[in-house]
Amino acid sequence: MTATLLDGRSAAEEILGAIVGEVSRLDRPPHLAILRVGENEASRCYVERKCATAKRIGIRTTSRVLTASANLEEIIGQIDRWNGDSGIHGILVQMPLPDSAMHGAVFDAIDPKKDVDGFNPHNFGLLAQGRGGGFVPCTPNGIVHLLRRYGIATSGRHVVVIGRSTIVGRPLSLLLQSRGMDATVTQCHSKSENLREIAKSGHILISAAGSPGLVGGDWIGDGAVVVDVGQNFIADPSAPSGKRLVGDVDFAAALDRCSYVTPVPGGVGPLTVAMLMKNVLMARIANGC
Ligand SMILES: NC(=O)c1ccc[n+]([C@@H]2O[C@H](COP(=O)([O-])OP(=O)(O)OC[C@H]3O[C@@H](n4cnc5c(N)ncnc54)[C@H](OP(=O)(O)O)[C@@H]3O)[C@@H](O)[C@H]2O)c1
Repeated sequence: MTATLLDGRSAAEEILGAIVGEVSRLDRPPHLAILRVGENEASRCYVERKCATAKRIGIRTTSRVLTASANLEEIIGQIDRWNGDSGIHGILVQMPLPDSAMHGAVFDAIDPKKDVDGFNPHNFGLLAQGRGGGFVPCTPNGIVHLLRRYGIATSGRHVVVIGRSTIVGRPLSLLLQSRGMDATVTQCHSKSENLREIAKSGHILISAAGSPGLVGGDWIGDGAVVVDVGQNFIADPSAPSGKRLVGDVDFAAALDRCSYVTPVPGGVGPLTVAMLMKNVLMARIANGC
């Protein structure tokens, strides 16, 4: 079997094209503020990509970088200034922070109406209760969009999600089991036993572990759909930068076993950015000024 690629780039371009049309009808463009803390190279690349995409589709951005030694007061001080600025419609704090113990307080600090990442407990709570009206985290939303775009049914299917983070695994599991998606979800993590057997039993297997090569060919059921969320930089002396981006899945092995698979890069990543832009547009329309 040779799997069909789930092409995140073209799916993202369709979404971005629709946003351009909506932005052009507004009297003032949506405005996204991005805070980055410390000098994590991957975070810097992600923020640059978000700013470049925003610019291309007419969304304004303001970014601020704080040093890795910034304390919680400084981070929340910046968020509060943006919360109070009616010209800023969306606020994003690039994760992870140098000190992960700060994550909860930072999620709490962002005004839910500007919380375009969907991590504030208000928006997360709406998702957990199966209620609409809140911002849905961008990577899970992008994955669901990709499955729908390729006509991949989730109702009644067994979906195995590897990972339970606030950013990907946990909201993704909630979204997949919501009414309308109706999947039966098994959520796994680093303490899960018999992970290979569980993974193999999934009609749809989604890996968001951040562990290169974790999902080998013998983890994938025949004809399963495989979504690889992992973004891992591994050493590659043949690459100009000396490293290469890979997912969690052994891609070559997956191609032979599954029906659909996301490439890395070019799978989930572009959709994450497109869904962020969609949330910023929603925030602009809802906030009105
Ligand atoms: N494509 C995109 O747009 C996008 C967006 C966001 C993130 N990502 C990527 O997705 C990956 C996950 O991101 P994240 O923020 O969710 O990471 P995270 O906060 O580190 O969470 C990783 C999760 O995977 C679990 N895990 C790690 N190693 C495992 C293993 N060997 N077996 C089973 N479970 C394992 C962890 O379990 P415990 O809870 O037990 O520790 C944790 O729940 C990273 O590679 C990240 O770069 C990609």
